[in-house]
Amino acid sequence: MTGVPRLPTSLVAPTPGWTRSADVIVVGSGIAGLAVAMHARRAGLSVLVVTKSYVTAGSTAWAQGGIAAALADDDSPAAHRKDTLVAGAGLCDVAAVDVLVNDGPRAINDLLAWGTQFDRDSAGGLALTREGGHHRRRIAHAGGDATGAEIVRAMVAEVAENPGITVIEHALALDLLTDVRGNVQGLTLHVIGEGQQDGVGAVLAPAVVLATGGIGQVFSASTNPTVATGDGVALGLRGGAIAADMEFIQFHPTVLWLGGEAVGQQPLVSEAVRGEGAYLVDDDGVRFMLDEHPLAELAPRDVVAKAIMRRMRATGSEHVWLDGRHLSEDMWTHRFPTILASTRTHGIDPVTDLVPVGPAQHYTSGGLRTDTWGRTNVGGLFACGECSCTGVHGANRLASNSLLEGLVFADRIGQLLASGLPERAEPVEKPTAAGLTDPAARTELQRAMTDGVSVLRSEQSIGEAQRRLAALPQGDEPGTPAWETTNLLTVASTIATGAQLRCETRGSHWREDFHDRDDDHWRRRILTRLRPDGTLAVDYEPLATMAAEQGQVNV
Ligand code: SIN
Repeated sequence: MTGVPRLPTSLVAPTPGWTRSADVIVVGSGIAGLAVAMHARRAGLSVLVVTKSYVTAGSTAWAQGGIAAALADDDSPAAHRKDTLVAGAGLCDVAAVDVLVNDGPRAINDLLAWGTQFDRDSAGGLALTREGGHHRRRIAHAGGDATGAEIVRAMVAEVAENPGITVIEHALALDLLTDVRGNVQGLTLHVIGEGQQDGVGAVLAPAVVLATGGIGQVFSASTNPTVATGDGVALGLRGGAIAADMEFIQFHPTVLWLGGEAVGQQPLVSEAVRGEGAYLVDDDGVRFMLDEHPLAELAPRDVVAKAIMRRMRATGSEHVWLDGRHLSEDMWTHRFPTILASTRTHGIDPVTDLVPVGPAQHYTSGGLRTDTWGRTNVGGLFACGECSCTGVHGANRLASNSLLEGLVFADRIGQLLASGLPERAEPVEKPTAAGLTDPAARTELQRAMTDGVSVLRSEQSIGEAQRRLAALPQGDEPGTPAWETTNLLTVASTIATGAQLRCETRGSHWREDFHDRDDDHWRRRILTRLRPDGTLAVDYEPLATMAAEQGQVNV
């Protein structure tokens, strides 16, 4: 494939200086990783959780809106299923969606049992809100708009009290260790620690669960925290796992606009604010979403993001405005304390001011391809949460389905592990391919992806991004900056490859040169894997079921 850099098939790391063993290794400490740990432990297995920063540092803690499930009396898994399929724009895996919506309410009960304090209504039931694409109030939330932080608080406390779960912080996973049959037997990692477990080590287990979250740092501006460098997807690809749907990057429509040059993690203004009645206006005060979709501001996220982009182009403005001045001050204070604090920090008071907002990278609907039990194509390797592609999101994730996906599929992985661990065997040496990316190239990598593979894409813009990626300098110095930047390049190349091949507009993939959804050719997933020579191989997965109920509208 032209314009795509050669990618390393293993990171250049020193020989492991120490070894540890467990039944299950979980990489990542967001909702998916911690839930897998809890479920595996419930099955009596010893669990090692490795996480690259502090245990609380991942994306989950930043989730504002909440977690969706059919909990209300007027709701049902069937209604949740329908909204999920419509948002997924024809590319959902229907069997996986069925698992998600049917197991959803039970998964919320797990969170309650682990001590999560959700917000309550006046009758003492769970307070439920709406977000884009949902036809019912089905989003449970906590601390107003601090749902993720409360979930992490409760789960970290549970894990800390569980002596069968060991957590190693500041541990960057490097490469999978595999046996002669190619099955996973653990991984290498680099730990910034003290004492015996410092530097590069090996952790051994016949089951490894990747739950490393998002890839936001591939782009210049994202709602994701700085740890979101796509490590799990890159590590999985190096270990022979297949990635799918990587071109479907979701851009959240309402991220606080801090100026055209703003980079790094950007403040989110939750869809729940629109769910409670705030609306979008352009520079002339026109409420443009009314003409765009029957659900107006609560249309699926890709519809709103595209409408905002079109309006910004039409008016020549760099952002639109969110108007929540008619919500009461009490609502802002108690329902959206996090957003109120963050907007006020930037000198904007949503009680009295319009809030400037625009789209920024938020979520990756694709990831390492799994079945409905979280299994990848590599024996003993599982993926869970945002770094996985179970198929529930299709071409566009329905708001607040991601925390639920992590929970539900963590439970499934736990059930499978409880029925028996894969066989243990000795790992075998693999050749070390050189080719780390120079960490100084990180900003150029992010700019290339933001310029060429962002909300709006074309053959020309993606091709230019691919050329810029291929020209990034290599660096010889192993270490966290180079390993992370190499992971970013692997993920960026995979996204660009999918985006270039998918010659249609569908869900969160918007091609300026192919305006319509093309079900004749593109009712299939793009699968990517890394060949031993460091090039990307592409294959296609036809969808087993293309239910008529999946969204049929070109937007
Ligand atoms: C939001 O609160 O708007 C984000 C929720 C999500 O991404 O699911």
